[in-house]
Amino acid sequence: MSESIQAQRPASGVLPHELPASLRAAGLTNWTREPLDDAVDRRRRIIFPPAAALIGTPAIGYQGALLAEVGHPDTVFMMGDNPDLPKMPERPRLQDFFQLRFSKIAIRHLLQSARVARERGLDEKVIIACLLHDIAIAGLLSANHGYWGAQLVAPYVDEEVRWAIEKHEALRYFSDESVGYSYPEAYIDYFGPDYQPPAYVRREYEAARRHRWYMTSRLVTINDIYSFDPNVVVDFADFEDVVGRNFRQPREGLGFDGSPVAHMWRTMIWPNNFL
Ligand SMILES: [Fe+2]
Ligand SMILES: [Fe+2]
Repeated sequence: MSESIQAQRPASGVLPHELPASLRAAGLTNWTREPLDDAVDRRRRIIFPPAAALIGTPAIGYQGALLAEVGHPDTVFMMGDNPDLPKMPERPRLQDFFQLRFSKIAIRHLLQSARVARERGLDEKVIIACLLHDIAIAGLLSANHGYWGAQLVAPYVDEEVRWAIEKHEALRYFSDESVGYSYPEAYIDYFGPDYQPPAYVRREYEAARRHRWYMTSRLVTINDIYSFDPNVVVDFADFEDVVGRNFRQPREGLGFDGSPVAHMWRTMIWPNNFL
């Protein structure tokens, strides 16, 4: 992109005239932008947030008004590359999602968890599971993140790794003093001291407890820590060898290999697409 084009682009946020006041008041202003660069054909792109982000919030009541906005000239819904996001390579690899899509806080959490697992001399299956265990939170969805995350990586990792990622979500709620795992302090802050996981989570935990791979998933929870040494900087490159041996990157790129989960990776490449 040339400097002159870059200079024309709004630095951040949106222009005040973009949406009716009612939508701006509902906090929807930042879901539109006034594109001034060639990447979006000089049209206004409206980002229509997904139902999963709207249901249960006041913003759901504004879907109709957002839809009506495309009635204006030169206004369309966001499809393809969002100019606010770095462009992904044609054949994205795992590291591209870490570097170009995942939030800083999520990257730090995943890298630090993997680092702790490696420092403890744990098996590479555990290290890669730690590195990947919350990628759904990092790039897709938080609710049921263990299951979404396990699905995302299923075609590319050992079945034991997939299983460990899926089950870590339920195991997090239940202590195992025999290996020094206690209910997370953070969960008391997050959910309140009286929170009880629902029955289905308990059933998942009880089944996982009896499974032959229980300890692999338990080790993910043991290394799933939130307080890190701020002086330690961990880089994805530190795990290139582990990823190389334990994550089968598809030749066509994640999102384009025709696998049953390719659409989930594409959703992370183009998270703001209307369809
Ligand atoms: Fe998690
Ligand atoms: Fe985590």
